[in-house]
Amino acid sequence: MIRRLFNRRLAIDVEQLRHIDIRRPLDPIPSIKLKLGFVIAAAVAVTVFVFWIGVTIGVWPSISGVLAAVAAMLLVFFLSRGMTRPLREMAAAADAMARGDYSRRVTTTSHDEVGTLARAFNEMASELAETDRVRRDLVANVSHELRTPITALQVALENLVDGVAQADPATFKTMLAQVERLGRLVQQLLDLSRLEAGVVPLVREEFRVEPLLEHAVREQQLHEPSVGVAVLVEPTDLTADGDPERVHQVVANLLENAVRFTPSGGTVEVRARRSDLGVTIEVLDEGPGIPETERARVFERFYRADAARAATDGGAGLGLAIARWIVDLHGGDIHPERREPHGCRMVVTLPRT
Ligand SMILES: Nc1ncnc2c1ncn2[C@@H]1O[C@H](COP(=O)(O)OP(=O)(O)O)[C@@H](O)[C@H]1O
Ligand SMILES: [Mg+2]
Repeated sequence: MIRRLFNRRLAIDVEQLRHIDIRRPLDPIPSIKLKLGFVIAAAVAVTVFVFWIGVTIGVWPSISGVLAAVAAMLLVFFLSRGMTRPLREMAAAADAMARGDYSRRVTTTSHDEVGTLARAFNEMASELAETDRVRRDLVANVSHELRTPITALQVALENLVDGVAQADPATFKTMLAQVERLGRLVQQLLDLSRLEAGVVPLVREEFRVEPLLEHAVREQQLHEPSVGVAVLVEPTDLTADGDPERVHQVVANLLENAVRFTPSGGTVEVRARRSDLGVTIEVLDEGPGIPETERARVFERFYRADAARAATDGGAGLGLAIARWIVDLHGGDIHPERREPHGCRMVVTLPRT
């Protein structure tokens, strides 16, 4: 066993030796201190050796000393090659980052602290690049979502100004719908950025679940009375831990989707019950359901499974992103399940504190 380990150890070392770059001979040494020690020892040895040879073959001691010093300098230059290059590269890459270019990486083969720093630097650069990409996507998505209702409003207004359309209630109603869409989008963006920044802390308390669900349903029914919503809370005096205002927002967002995807005349159910961890709230609908492949993605910002349809009658794809942030802040879980025979069942679990 020990022998096998020893053999393996040796194999690794030989492997490492084979990879030593002759241009940077000290790369495998794992610490700067050791490297410096090695360089100093080698320099002293060469100095003494050259001096001794010089004196032995009868060269004047002063000339021999100069020769020894030059030999030592050359050796130090050779051995310490590449030791500081990653640092220079990092400085250059940091400069490039300050200008917004996150594509630069530091190349290093050394195993010492500089190598570790360089690898950490590369990881940081990758993460910054990813953050930058997400930010760009966000700006692009937001602009796109804002443009749609603004264009529609502009067209309606131009038609009014040109006399093509009449200033009748129907025209104003479509215009109002676009303004409402804009308002909703801006409100959702504000909510999301506040949640992500942690500006609005949760105001946790023990609240009764049934009145909260009833309230959310009543609000939803004002907007979309064609789909009935049933509330089933078991037991009726069930209480949960959390920020009632935020939980209301989660339920409202889930209800909005459930009602939108359920054909008119269908019913949506909102259920709540006690569970092992705390309280489970479910919203069940009779729509098409969410395919297995989309289950994780629907919580992403601006993600809509059916973009074409959502563009006309849905939101901007922020509702579930907001819901997930709120549930995460509560330390809970939210996920969609399949409902038989068809439909979606959104399950939210709010743990007890
Ligand atoms: N109950 C549901 N049934 C089917 N698909 C759903 C349901 N809820 C959400 N989805 C899918 O998830 C996407 C994201 O939902 P959401 O974040 O609320 O955005 P939005 O409602 O603005 O489209 C929806 O566009 C839809 O494709
Ligand atoms: Mg929604």
